[in-house]
Amino acid sequence: MEETEFIWMNGKMVPWKDAKIHVLTHSLHYGTAVFEGIRCYDTPKGPAIFRLKDHVKRLLDSAHIVQVKANFTQKEYEDACKAVVSKNKLKECYIRPIVYFGYGQMGLATGKCGVDSAIAAWPWGVYLGEDGVKNGIRMKISSYTRHHVNVMLTKSKTTGNYVNSTLAKMEALNAGYDEAIMLDAQGYISECSGENIFIVRDGVLITPPATNALEGITRKSMLEVAAAEGIEAREELFTRDQLYISDEAFLTGTAAEVTPIREVDNRTIGAGKPGQVTKKLQARFYDIIHGKDKKFEKWLDYVEK
Ligand SMILES: Cc1ncc(COP(=O)(O)O)c(C=O)c1O
Repeated sequence: MEETEFIWMNGKMVPWKDAKIHVLTHSLHYGTAVFEGIRCYDTPKGPAIFRLKDHVKRLLDSAHIVQVKANFTQKEYEDACKAVVSKNKLKECYIRPIVYFGYGQMGLATGKCGVDSAIAAWPWGVYLGEDGVKNGIRMKISSYTRHHVNVMLTKSKTTGNYVNSTLAKMEALNAGYDEAIMLDAQGYISECSGENIFIVRDGVLITPPATNALEGITRKSMLEVAAAEGIEAREELFTRDQLYISDEAFLTGTAAEVTPIREVDNRTIGAGKPGQVTKKLQARFYDIIHGKDKKFEKWLDYVEK
């Protein structure tokens, strides 16, 4: 990864190399930290963070679900995200806030644990590769089932949830694919290791309900962009064979942005290249994040006012 100069820790800017925690930090052992993934983009008005308020709100919601008592407020985390970007003189970057149970208490009970927060930011290019964004990626249905809603609490971005994602991602990579698609406990398509999924059938955009998937902020944005483009969109369960015979498919996420899918389990999706609906939504999304779309400028939080 590309290092930057400072990481925000509990309200202070700490040099990158000194941003360390004790090996007996509670969340390191039990996977109970909550985190966010946010992107900042270069725009004609300077660096702008995409949907910052929604991301910080989800961070606090995650903390609420896992009962981690966040030690800063919504406004303080928002300001800290902006400060990390400007202090590191970044134009475009990925921002990673994390709130975790700290050092001082062991055992599963968290009642007496202290809580710490940190925010790092660094330049992070296209998550699934330039070629993937342009021409589409190859995906595999994972042998790992996505969390049942009563096993892990999937509305929370809890670090422990991501063991399931890492297993699926590594299985897909080791089998020669770019990314994994995960089925829910009933066998319906749920989401990907770190992205939501959409298909297009007969001109209608379909994404699984976020019942057992993360309520993706890019997913929510995409549904609003589709409405603005006059594209009919539905939140509806679908099966792996409906995905195989879809006309188009793509995934959405902060890291992956909007990435077309050209193949699933060695079956070509549509024409095997990004389709018209995908291309239209992808182009509009890239205009929005780069500050070229007046209608959706409300989603940008400029770092310097
Ligand atoms: C499991 C999972 N699903 C979906 C997403 C996409 O969410 P967002 O668009 O808010 O980044 C992410 C990324 O945060 C994720 O980790």
